[in-house]
Amino acid sequence: MPVIVFSSPKGGAGKTTAAVILATELAGTGATVTVIDADPNKNVVDWSKLPDAPKNLSVIGEVSEDTIQDQIDEAARTSTFVVVDLEGTASLLVGYAIAAADLVVIPVQGSQLDAKQAARTIKLIKAQERGRAKIPFAILFTRTNPAIVPRTQRHIEERMIEMEVPAFSTRLADREAYRAIFSYGGTLQNLSDKGMSNLPTAITNARSFVAEALQLLKQGAEQQSASREVA
Ligand SMILES: Nc1ncnc2c1ncn2[C@@H]1O[C@H](COP(=O)(O)OP(=O)(O)OP(=O)(O)O)[C@@H](O)[C@H]1O
Ligand SMILES: [Mg+2]
Repeated sequence: MPVIVFSSPKGGAGKTTAAVILATELAGTGATVTVIDADPNKNVVDWSKLPDAPKNLSVIGEVSEDTIQDQIDEAARTSTFVVVDLEGTASLLVGYAIAAADLVVIPVQGSQLDAKQAARTIKLIKAQERGRAKIPFAILFTRTNPAIVPRTQRHIEERMIEMEVPAFSTRLADREAYRAIFSYGGTLQNLSDKGMSNLPTAITNARSFVAEALQLLKQGAEQQSASREVA
């Protein structure tokens, strides 16, 4: 079933945070989810060892460039969703994961330096596409200010629109709850007794990100079947 890959050569862009939010929210709907933690830092594996990780979510942590393709194929056969969290570099492993993706999510923080790094990921996606089906991708603005949209953020978003770079209309704001799941474990819902401020807003924001990801997957699948019919 669908493979969603989080990629950006920029360290700290928000890949792991967004990947775990997506995976836990999908698991919350009852879907089976496999997360492939392809980052040697193993942040998703560490999170999964904390209490309250959903039972229908499994994490694979032993991943190499020799094994990733088979691991993604196998997970896609057995799970409703596969989420791949990548290391912040460009490597053969990253290329293989992107080639297997039904959707590549590129987290970007609102600075020009981050946007430049996102362009590298898009180049990598285009290189994997050569002569083959298109790989759907979208920029996800992360760690945004929930109260205001700073001028630089707005400028970058406008540039993306001008350059016709697909981007989520949902921004994943900078929220304490998104950090807290990595200390307490479990899902956003599990934080309800931890006195977290603005938790309902964090959950709503996460859900609109997930809904948009599902919509992009659906669009990608429709485009693929349309191009198969043409071929
Ligand atoms: N939406 C968010 N709200 C609050 N904190 C966030 C958010 N996204 C990321 N962070 C914080 O920013 C830091 C980097 O995030 P994260 O580890 O998700 O990035 P990454 O792209 O996976 O990094 P790496 O390239 O090192 O794997 C972490 O401290 C994380 O807690
Ligand atoms: Mg990470």
